[in-house]
Parts: sequence; C-alpha cells; structure tokens
Amino acid sequence: MYIENREETGSDIIIYQCVGPNCKKKKGKLLENYIKKYRLQDKIKTDVMGCTDRCNAAPILHLHPDDIWFSERDLGTVFKKHILNK
Ligand code: FES
Repeated sequence: MYIENREETGSDIIIYQCVGPNCKKKKGKLLENYIKKYRLQDKIKTDVMGCTDRCNAAPILHLHPDDIWFSERDLGTVFKKHILNK
C-alpha cells in the first residue's frame, strides 16, 4: 500500500489517509479542502492506508517523505510547517 519510490508517483509529497474502521467514520474533507485552497493538486498525491493502531487520535494521516503521523485536526499545522514553507 505504501509507495516509497517518488518516481512511481510523480509527486514529492504523499499524504496517506487511514481508512480503518475508527478513522473512516470520523474522516472529514479537510485534506481535500486544504489541497484545493492552496492549489497543491500537482504537488501532493493522496493515498489510503489501513489501521496502524493509532485509533485514539483518529482520523489519522501520514505525511511522506517527512514521516509524520498526525490527526486530521492538526492538518493546518502540518501544512504550515512541512508543506507550505518548502
Ligand atoms: S482505524 Fe485508523 S488508526 Fe486505527
């Protein structure tokens, strides 16, 4: 499910969204909204992942290649610190 080779994706940044049962029911549209808001459709690829036992902070996302796990509620902070300033 994880794609480690950037050449395969054509994108430097991949954000994985958990689609496990605990995250799926809490998942919102924040990620899609942020990507549209900052016009990053060509820079960010999204993909899905299964449960990684981080359900207590659901919905969970993972930023690649920075290897950052975060909750959807921290998406704004992650965008500011790790995506928009690059
Ligand atoms: S269901 Fe998403 S971390 Fe468990």
